[in-house]
Amino acid sequence: LNYLTPKSRLEVLDLLVTGLKRLEYRGYDSTGVAIDSPDSKNIVMVKRMGKVKVLEDAIQEHFTGGEYSEPVATHIGIAHTRWATHGEPCERNSHPQRSDEGNGFVVVHNGIITNYNDVKTFLRKRGYEFESETDTEVFAKLVHHLWKTHPTYSFRELVEQAILQLEGAFAVAVKSKHFPGECVAARRSSPLLVGIKTKTRLATDHIPILYGKDDKKQTSDQVLPRSDSTSEFMPLEEKEVEYFFASDASAVIEHTNRVIYLEDDDVAAVRDGTLSIHRLKKSLDDPHAREITTLKMEIQQIMKGNYDYFMQKEIFEQPDSVVNTMRGRVRFDGNAIVLGGIKDYIPEIKRCRRLMLIGCGTSYHSAVATRQLLEELTELPVMVELASDFLDRNTPIFRDDVCFFISQSGETADTLMALRYCKQRGALIVGITNTVGSSICRESHCGVHINAGPEIGVASTKAYTSQFISLVMFALVMSEDRLSLQQRRLEILQALSNLADQIRKVLKLDSKVQELAKDLYQHKSLLIMGRGYNFATCLEGALKVKELTYMHSEGIMAGELKHGPLALVDDSMPVLMIVLRDPVYVKCMNALQQVTSRKGCPIIICEEGDEETKAFSSRSLEIPRTVDCLQGILTVIPMQLLSYHIAVLRGCDVDCPRNLAKSVTVE
Ligand code: G6P
Repeated sequence: LNYLTPKSRLEVLDLLVTGLKRLEYRGYDSTGVAIDSPDSKNIVMVKRMGKVKVLEDAIQEHFTGGEYSEPVATHIGIAHTRWATHGEPCERNSHPQRSDEGNGFVVVHNGIITNYNDVKTFLRKRGYEFESETDTEVFAKLVHHLWKTHPTYSFRELVEQAILQLEGAFAVAVKSKHFPGECVAARRSSPLLVGIKTKTRLATDHIPILYGKDDKKQTSDQVLPRSDSTSEFMPLEEKEVEYFFASDASAVIEHTNRVIYLEDDDVAAVRDGTLSIHRLKKSLDDPHAREITTLKMEIQQIMKGNYDYFMQKEIFEQPDSVVNTMRGRVRFDGNAIVLGGIKDYIPEIKRCRRLMLIGCGTSYHSAVATRQLLEELTELPVMVELASDFLDRNTPIFRDDVCFFISQSGETADTLMALRYCKQRGALIVGITNTVGSSICRESHCGVHINAGPEIGVASTKAYTSQFISLVMFALVMSEDRLSLQQRRLEILQALSNLADQIRKVLKLDSKVQELAKDLYQHKSLLIMGRGYNFATCLEGALKVKELTYMHSEGIMAGELKHGPLALVDDSMPVLMIVLRDPVYVKCMNALQQVTSRKGCPIIICEEGDEETKAFSSRSLEIPRTVDCLQGILTVIPMQLLSYHIAVLRGCDVDCPRNLAKSVTVE
């Protein structure tokens, strides 16, 4: 929303497309954009199936006329890149969705409207015909219906009334030809922020929330009773300003680092350059204002630099990202660890009944990877849970449980729902996230930012190793005053101090791993086996292979091999085994022999110089020796590299694997 310096529509389009490119990792099956027509009386939309590049080319073809290059004083445009939930990926189902053929109201939406069928039936009865299968179109048409039946409502009031009728999760931005120069955005569960760019420093660091009475009459055709609404008080009245509504900071960071994270049921409206934030209902614990946060993110962090893919860059960033996770927290000389975000809660945590670690995908694997150490150093029962399954089971939760929610994005709907479930039951909520200002971060009582830096590749890599280290640091904090554990703690601290250099060493295996990938990439399947501290690497390695290469892969607990998976093994099935000199070494060797005696020829990940183990295979990858509980960090990196190289060889799009999205904000 530009009120800063006159920009042409082409410049506005360029800005929108660049924003979409930064957000593309969140979804990439179709895209679209809406801006004002040259006479500002209509809205023009361009939508395309596929990635943002396709839209960019279409825009170049579509907007050729000179009138699009003339500067306009103010302009509002909206754009979207989609990860399909309702309706197949195609142009018709891509956003913006519209209210009518005249593009009266156009909407972009992230999330799922669960009661869309009811609203659709309601609207059909009033003559609306639908052109897409999306839930979003229902929203556009509902706003249109309210506009027709409530001609005195402001744009913001229309959106407020519409979201009152809707159930589910959403972040929406709406533009209308009936309200030129205005834009309204709202959120419930799905993330939404407002970026603010001004020429001079803002005079305020917060925006008051508006409540208030409304005396306009209700009409009989209303779907639900009308809420309290607000007066037209104007809290951020900057004359020269550019506003950005976006679902994450990477879309706005090249323009501004000043953002407001909106809360559930906030409605933000921009009108004549003025931003106001409204809430439908006032509750006792509502703060009076929304803070303007200054982001620390740098634009370089979300650029690929010299790498071919974000994922590749992120794998190679790990020597630095693990150090950033520990920075300011671990004092190697004094054997001290301070986790500022949870230190006040440690006494309470020490008194708890059990620790629950909850997450999805890779984040869940970081819980599996550290469970054993947490059990050892806290002497508490530790449960690890997939958020979706945890909710399905209505798992019993008690006031004296401590529940960790692990999430790179901090927005994963399953994890967020599990968090709310536990919070409601009185448990202490600890967030482990990589995204400052995310929903999980804000809804937790306390937490640890893993500080891995923005992760753009859909397949998580550096966030995993940083989550892992954050949980190890937590275990160390919990055991600070246990005399019997001091030796063990010292050993781990020592290993943490060497970790960055050891990761650098593992990364040097890259070309060897690439050669291995050449042997494997035409196979249909890959089995990855290990046990103990390395079982999580097997699960995470198999997930990486599946996500990126579309090959079947399975992480197998070596102890379970004889109970079924052994049937898969023959001389043509690729098997990768992790066999390190730790307490489960002998048992791993048994599994290895079970494989070789079935004519299998496993690829082995073993410790540097372990000739005896290496002798069991013609192909091995050697990693430096570290303490048992940190091995998983060094063993997962070859797996990340392997899946990356196989994906490249198979011609897959490494950063945007088919059907997946980085941040899944729907259940
Ligand atoms: C999605 C991503 C996975 C990720 C999972 C959890 O499924 O594709 O790579 O591990 O969500 O994401 P989170 O942001 O909660 O860590």
